[in-house]
Amino acid sequence: MTDSANSMWGGRFAAGPDAIMEAINASIGFDQRLAAQDIEGSRAHAAMLAATGIIEASDAEAIREGLLTVLSEIEAGTFQFSTALEDIHMNVESRLKELIGEPAGRLHTARSRNDQVALDFRMWVRDQCDVASNGIAALQKALLAQAETGADWVMPGFTHLQTAQPVTWGHHMMAYVEMLGRDASRFADARARMNESPLGAAALAGTSFPIDRNMTAKELGFDRPSANSLDAVADRDFALEFLAAASICAMHLSRLAEELVIWSSAQFRFVAMSDRFSTGSSIMPQKKNPDAAELVRAKIGRILGATVGLFTVMKGLPLTYSKDMQEDKEQVFDAADNLMLALAAMEGMVGDMSANPDALRSAASSGFSTATDLADWLVREAGLPFRDAHHVTGRLVALAEDKGCDLPELSLDEMKSAHDAITDGVFDVLGVDNSVRSRTSYGGTAPDQVRAQIARWKTQLED
Ligand code: ARG
Repeated sequence: MTDSANSMWGGRFAAGPDAIMEAINASIGFDQRLAAQDIEGSRAHAAMLAATGIIEASDAEAIREGLLTVLSEIEAGTFQFSTALEDIHMNVESRLKELIGEPAGRLHTARSRNDQVALDFRMWVRDQCDVASNGIAALQKALLAQAETGADWVMPGFTHLQTAQPVTWGHHMMAYVEMLGRDASRFADARARMNESPLGAAALAGTSFPIDRNMTAKELGFDRPSANSLDAVADRDFALEFLAAASICAMHLSRLAEELVIWSSAQFRFVAMSDRFSTGSSIMPQKKNPDAAELVRAKIGRILGATVGLFTVMKGLPLTYSKDMQEDKEQVFDAADNLMLALAAMEGMVGDMSANPDALRSAASSGFSTATDLADWLVREAGLPFRDAHHVTGRLVALAEDKGCDLPELSLDEMKSAHDAITDGVFDVLGVDNSVRSRTSYGGTAPDQVRAQIARWKTQLED
């Protein structure tokens, strides 16, 4: 094939391409992943061509049958992919011709590879939105199970990675359930917006054949055909939106992964990761490394990289199709594969890990985590303005720090030395359990609030 003109457009060409031209031009090495979508799209197109009388019903039937044979060859791994045939579209059509002869040449009536690739890739990305949503839901369920087990386990809540106020383990787990819920809704939004069929836009201008774009759109599960043929072949927003949603999701996963890395360290011991998701060291026998968490933490790099990459490819491209756009696929494939892997790894880690309630509690009790409770008490019970209460509490924290004790261990006299309105009642709010139980505002860390959110999410995820 390299020495002769291409069989698909050979009419105008005397010589075949240079080997380097073939190497830079071919996409079959990666776009064979679109085979199932390509064949599904072609089957719908052939049926429509027959229904509208553009081709004979018998030709359409031969095409549809032949395409199934091609699909089974691809699925069985016996299909011979050819670089000379450039991409999945021409590989499939060429094999179809070998199988059924002349009718194969009628399949490409009223169609171009420009609307064909836009269709195939859109259907592939649409599927991946569903795959991502399922992966997210599975991880949310693992987090919910953790949250239920430790709905009232007290742990330190952090800001600046400094102990801030006591919170509950359940509350912390549920924070990620919320984040992932937004991720799922981003994939759902993107899916709804991308669900218009570009098929029938042809090369760019539409076609003079009496095609039925509603028929193919419906057959392929789209809400409607796209309304502008130029836009239909030029648009890759669906891939960009998918990547943007994937990037945000991967960023969330990296934050959880980072917490698991910190929490599983000997200094924290908040969680023990299972052996199934850890590795050992070849030199230090005592080590158990959270490699899976570290790799999940890193995945954002390539996923965001793919996002920036495709934006850069698309930036400044004049309408409509340009071959630049062939560079859209590999990065999306890679980003999708790695997002799904990261979600699955995170689901496994969260499902398997065991939190250590004693370590959580003792960390929660250190670092003067109930200082805000003391300040709030001064406002509520002694009538101090909050700013003054903040100062009084600050003096008591300094005193406790000097003495090397925690706030509840100060005596009433020591308390009174900072403000004489302080009474015995203050000790009721200083324990970490009292502290979390008192945070009953909507969305707060009180176990009852947390359990209400767990119940809401459980119902939501069952649908
Ligand atoms: N392999 C091409 C791609 O992935 C298919 C479309 C080619 N269209 C064209 N007019 N050369 O973008």
